[in-house]
Amino acid sequence: MTASTAADRPSAVPRDALRAALPAVAGRLPRITLGVWPTPVEPCALRRDLWLKREDLSAPQYGGNKVRCLEPVLGHLVERGVRRAVGTGAWGSNQALALAIHGARHGLETGAVLFPQPPSAAAADNLRSLLATPCAVTLLPNIALFPLAWLRARIAGEVIVPPGAAVPRGALGHVAAALEVAFAIRAGEVPPLRHVVLAVGSTCTTAGLLVGFAAARSLGLIERAPTVHAVRVTPWPVTAHRRIVALARGAAALLARLGGPDATERRALAEGLRVSGRQLGRGYGHPTAAGRGAIAAFDGVAGPHLDTTYAGKAGAWLLDEGAALDGPTLFWTTKSAVQPPLIELAEAPIRRRVRRWLERGGAAPP
Ligand SMILES: Cc1ncc(COP(=O)(O)O)c(C=O)c1O
Repeated sequence: MTASTAADRPSAVPRDALRAALPAVAGRLPRITLGVWPTPVEPCALRRDLWLKREDLSAPQYGGNKVRCLEPVLGHLVERGVRRAVGTGAWGSNQALALAIHGARHGLETGAVLFPQPPSAAAADNLRSLLATPCAVTLLPNIALFPLAWLRARIAGEVIVPPGAAVPRGALGHVAAALEVAFAIRAGEVPPLRHVVLAVGSTCTTAGLLVGFAAARSLGLIERAPTVHAVRVTPWPVTAHRRIVALARGAAALLARLGGPDATERRALAEGLRVSGRQLGRGYGHPTAAGRGAIAAFDGVAGPHLDTTYAGKAGAWLLDEGAALDGPTLFWTTKSAVQPPLIELAEAPIRRRVRRWLERGGAAPP
């Protein structure tokens, strides 16, 4: 599949949906444009009334959903004069890679502190891509060392981007994505949606979408906010319903402080969210048979290609429990369609254990 971008397609959706819907907020929220907006919304051949929000196409250098959260997070850092930021997450972290790729494009030095995860093709490719960038990578041998490594980095004066950039400011990046969808509905490019389905890992994307759809409703862009179905790829309590709603309320409060509509009402946010843990399998990063089935199903209709850690599990839910959803449904395709260059294994400055992990991931089905 070739990665096209929204810029190729005519659409009535504004390039900067946040500015078009909420000019005061856009004027006060520092952002750096990292992606190509709007990402397309397309019908999916897998079934009737199924649509795709192509967040996989969000940036030609490296896309996926993490580009959205990094726009306001990096905007804030650069405004504060920060010159170096450290990403955090698993060895195959999409956020750390997105930070390294896009940070470098904007003159930011980057580091990454990463903990192990089960081997997979996508995770191995991400680490090889990360090692091919100038990012200073620390590969922890054990997740138990992560809090200590974080503390040491803080003491050393590092600015740390938490896993998934799951902070209110990061979630505001996804408010812009929800507003794009609302504009597409208003322009008749997509029918009024009843459901949105996506993977939830750090909670940033889901929380931002909840706020964005609530804001779109209060601005009169859409009549009704779709129900957001978040499919766990990390376990409870990381992805507890109340934790996602709490981040959404934090993002809504920030939006209101910046001059946006008040979307902080807990009940409305909570009622718009359903969380399912049925596709998690053995846990974060462990591929599942159902996830592989969903990947094959999407490949069978020419993509987008999903990954085993995130989008494949959300796809599995969509094709299983999600088959019973009534009305137009939008599947959020979150894994970047573009893979940045990989370091040659022989050149990678890594310990033997990491090399074995990369080899096992490389041998796994993509
Ligand atoms: C490809 C992909 N999909 C989905 C998610 C889940 O998004 P969030 O962490 O915002 O819940 C992530 C998080 O890193 C991701 O990398």
